[in-house]
Amino acid sequence: MAPGWLLPIAAFCCLGGIALGGAPCHYPPHQWCGSSEIAQACKAEKHCARLGPPGKKADPVSVSLYYESLCPACRSFLVFQLFPTWLLVGDAMEITLVPYGNAQEKKGPSKWEFECQHGPDECLGNLMEACLIHLLGDQGSYFPLIFCMESSANVTQNLETCMKLYPTSEIPLANVTSCVSGDLGNKLMHQNAQLTDALRPPHKYVPWIAVNGNHTEELQGEAQSNLLGVVCKLYKGDLPPACQHKGNPSPFSPQDACLKI
Ligand SMILES: *[C@@H]1O[C@H](CO)[C@@H](O)[C@H](O)[C@H]1NC(C)=O
Ligand SMILES: *[C@@H]1O[C@H](CO)[C@@H](O)[C@H](O)[C@H]1NC(C)=O
Ligand SMILES: *[C@@H]1O[C@H](CO)[C@@H](O)[C@H](O)[C@H]1NC(C)=O
Repeated sequence: MAPGWLLPIAAFCCLGGIALGGAPCHYPPHQWCGSSEIAQACKAEKHCARLGPPGKKADPVSVSLYYESLCPACRSFLVFQLFPTWLLVGDAMEITLVPYGNAQEKKGPSKWEFECQHGPDECLGNLMEACLIHLLGDQGSYFPLIFCMESSANVTQNLETCMKLYPTSEIPLANVTSCVSGDLGNKLMHQNAQLTDALRPPHKYVPWIAVNGNHTEELQGEAQSNLLGVVCKLYKGDLPPACQHKGNPSPFSPQDACLKI
């Protein structure tokens, strides 16, 4: 892994205002709210809404990300905004990941053929992630894996390593690789192409973010610079504790995107 991609954990710490150190915490961040004991050891109690007294629940804020696996701006949004926000206020949000982005599809003799903006390796990354989403089904299982891949120096080379790091994934690697190389993966990617092509307004770049089903330039800008703030602002239930620190918006400019050609 390149050092630059190890920063997300640091970003999570700063965003949540969590100080490391003290009692030993042997758990990765996505497990910190798993039980009161772990939360205590990892000094994360304040941030774990689901361990606190039950508050007023509301519909989760839905955040949909249309992206492609090797676009640098997609990777940084997923790694530095979406994943940390989900760790902090995951109970108040619902995530939809649609890997496809600016790819193109055409019908071949026996299956769909895809051409990806950043080449065949990007198509492979999209396929791996689509298969993980489909086979694992549950956000808590596939999102850490996709985060792990997207934060690696080489997205497609680290599927196996990431599956070992995050054993929440209870499926054998062989099932993922057979999805990737078979008809199932091809069908899933065609579905993602259709979902992406159905966007209104049509996407002009990726990452393309829809909040509660809407995309506006304003929402996109806010989400890319401070997604935690957006979720906290829109959630109608009792606010999770992490909403007290809304983070520091990071500068966002429209150039932080992979344009559709
Ligand atoms: C990542 O690994 C794949 C497969 O080994 C290789 O084809 C690709 O060029 C690598 N990408 C980068 C950015 O190094
Ligand atoms: C993995 O694939 C095999 C063969 O298709 C299947 O029998 C098994 O149920 C799959 N395992 C999981 C966990 O999906
Ligand atoms: C989404 O769009 C609908 C209809 O235009 C609007 O009523 C709603 O407030 C929008 N939601 C957000 C989060 O902007």
